[in-house]
Amino acid sequence: MLTGKVALVTGASRGIGCAIARKLAKMGALVIVNYNGSKEAAEAVAGEICKVGGSAVTYGCDVADEAATTAMIAAITKDYGGIDILVNNAGITRDNLMLRMTDAEFDAVLATNLKGAFHTMRAAAKTMLKKRYGRIINIASVTGMTGNAGQANYAAAKAGLIGMTKTAARELASRGITVNAVAPGFIETDMTRKLPEEIRKKACGQIPLGRFGQPEDVADAVAFLAAEGAYLTGQVLAVDGGMVM
Ligand code: NAI
Repeated sequence: MLTGKVALVTGASRGIGCAIARKLAKMGALVIVNYNGSKEAAEAVAGEICKVGGSAVTYGCDVADEAATTAMIAAITKDYGGIDILVNNAGITRDNLMLRMTDAEFDAVLATNLKGAFHTMRAAAKTMLKKRYGRIINIASVTGMTGNAGQANYAAAKAGLIGMTKTAARELASRGITVNAVAPGFIETDMTRKLPEEIRKKACGQIPLGRFGQPEDVADAVAFLAAEGAYLTGQVLAVDGGMVM
């Protein structure tokens, strides 16, 4: 159980982040539902958690914005005494074939998916060092391990996130802080709903379990790493129906 723990989930207004927020709250954590633009959706997520007896509050901030992210974590620390569990879930795609990809598309994905996680980890780890306890879980992607046509920016960011996870795991281990990555395959969310039917079918053919995963499948893995994984650090756990093994 996670009673008494403060968990920050970035980009938790929908999709995988929302499922993670619900799961951690169900396990007793006070959940900080971070959002960028979607204030109403984030408030609805927090409201639903509270309605079923959990604890959740919302904090808005674009994780790509260093000053805003540092200020958000300072505010959470002032209000709740620090962060015990950090889940870096916020992520975007700007897909294009590499030869056509613009610098703006490349930079936007790196800024949110990689640098955003750096901003939160650096600030949150400082609060964890004081407690000599922490669980950092970064939502990467199997694309960061295999590459994917049309996703040079996304694959680079997710591969970078895996490298950063392992580095932080080494730097923080002696202080009781574990750092792991969860690498989803194809999960049913807004991000994958826009895929053409033909690509979805092809993808299913590459998944031994024969279907896309649900956001709750990813949330279960995150919950395990948050609540149980005391002797697990620097690992990448693929939640992909067996697609990459
Ligand atoms: P989604 O698009 O449904 O949700 C992403 C969330 O991140 C949204 O709430 C959005 O508002 C938030 N967000 C985006 N930029 C932000 C920023 N700069 N600051 C704060 N919040 C921001 O996507 P989904 O599918 O739920 O993805 C969640 C994570 O899982 C992402 O990191 C994604 O790369 C990763 N993932 C998803 C897979 C899938 O099949 N859906 C597969 C592999 C990884």
